[in-house]
Amino acid sequence: MFHALSIAQFDVDTTFQLIRRAEALRAMPRHEARALLAGDIVATLFYEPSTRTRLSFEAAVYRLGGQVVSAENARENSSSKKGESLADVFRVVGCYADAIVIRHHSAEELDAAAPFSPVPVINAGAGSGEHPTQALLDAYTIWRELGRLSDLTVAVLGDLKYGRTVHSLLRLLAKMDGIRIRLFHPEPLGLPPELAAEMRDSGIPIEIAEDLEDAVRGADIVYQTRIQAERLQAEHELCATDDYAIRRSHLAVLPEHARILHPLPRVGEIDPAIDPDDRAAYFRQAENGLYMRMALLDHMLRGELG
Ligand code: CP
Repeated sequence: MFHALSIAQFDVDTTFQLIRRAEALRAMPRHEARALLAGDIVATLFYEPSTRTRLSFEAAVYRLGGQVVSAENARENSSSKKGESLADVFRVVGCYADAIVIRHHSAEELDAAAPFSPVPVINAGAGSGEHPTQALLDAYTIWRELGRLSDLTVAVLGDLKYGRTVHSLLRLLAKMDGIRIRLFHPEPLGLPPELAAEMRDSGIPIEIAEDLEDAVRGADIVYQTRIQAERLQAEHELCATDDYAIRRSHLAVLPEHARILHPLPRVGEIDPAIDPDDRAAYFRQAENGLYMRMALLDHMLRGELG
């Protein structure tokens, strides 16, 4: 793999190899890990806001002994503001860094420009398209919490139209055995038609839940997401979100072994009162992102896998 732009590039074997490598890197003494990318420089270019993805990627580089050059708020603060094309940005930044981690507002622009980069490009979230490294860390979290990535009922909630984490996660889950998907979303924010068709073609069973309680009842994994308010395009999409908040009352219909995930940030769709419950796994999920991104960088820059 040269660039990592879509979760479609990650088959089941590679996903499990990355999970094993993430576990190994988690257990590795820090001084040993620091030798792995010693001398390497990774550029992080973020054209959209981020807390977890940017900081976990940058922490991952430092934990592996590499160094980071960064453009935060790159839409305003880099020469993209002057009209420089993304292809030229890649051509130039590729002279300074050994890999480029980028979050961009346009999936199409990112896909078109990546071939011009002389160094590997990692998609750290592209518009309302994909967020492949989030799906890898989500898979890692499910595996770590439940011990498997097969034979699971997964309830996916919230903004399925613009939520790029959902797009990548569903595509990855569709490759696993025995996955059953339940969806619950505000009426105008269902899956994009091409993804819905992809899921139908994959043969994975998908049901649409009547309400939130119906969605989470008996699920193994509940994957809650934020309504992407900044991406809503039409008046009818500006829907009430109250019906989509997971509250303590929902825990009564959720099995003890189940886990609640959320890519974060959350803005009201999970009541903080449930945070102390063992089933609330979203902060552990955010931590897992560090180790999965260490594994991915190690794989892409050194060819290492578990
Ligand atoms: N999950 C995620 O992508 O979070 P950030 O937007 O904070 O990077």
